[in-house]
Amino acid sequence: MKITLVHGQNHKGSSYHIGRLLAEQFADSDIKEFFLPKDLEHFCTGCCKCISDEEKCPFYTGKRRIMEAIEGADLLIFTTPTYCMRASAPMKSFIDLMFTYWMSHKPRECMFSKKAVIISTAAGTGTRSAIKDIKNTLFYWGVPYIKEYGMAVQAMNWEQVSPEKKKK
Ligand SMILES: Cc1cc2nc3c(=O)[nH]c(=O)nc-3n(C[C@H](O)[C@H](O)[C@H](O)COP(=O)(O)O)c2cc1C
Repeated sequence: MKITLVHGQNHKGSSYHIGRLLAEQFADSDIKEFFLPKDLEHFCTGCCKCISDEEKCPFYTGKRRIMEAIEGADLLIFTTPTYCMRASAPMKSFIDLMFTYWMSHKPRECMFSKKAVIISTAAGTGTRSAIKDIKNTLFYWGVPYIKEYGMAVQAMNWEQVSPEKKKK
């Protein structure tokens, strides 16, 4: 199984750890992972050059590596902390930079056989709307099977999460 994780954060907190726990359930898997913004430190400039030719995106070289891993994966795992009741800003920026994946632009047949899991943690509330930002995107990329896992960890980092919650 080829698994690609896209983390909407550079750090290894609760969202990251839950994503890794899931990915590591699958024996003999080939895991690739990317951290945002570290692995794609750009915002879309709105030039729209990608609409005519994806390679004309000023950030295409950086994007290509992640696109190859996404297109080659059987399972996509997206993680994001809930920030102000939404997905993180780096994750939103990534979604914007992958604009041409939307089926109304350049549909990819490879998306139609993928599975995806979206994970978000919050201290208390907001995972549903954070996950929705990503779920909506994957739906419009053409991914047919999308599961979500939101958890109120009542913590600011993984170390603070109680053993009971970690087990759950
Ligand atoms: C900028 C910022 C915004 C946050 N917004 C929320 C929020 O809207 N709702 C909430 O319950 N927790 C919020 N939190 C807390 C985090 O969502 C929570 O600690 C989460 O588990 C962090 O995930 P991580 O360990 O993967 O970084 C916020 C934290 C930060 C730093």
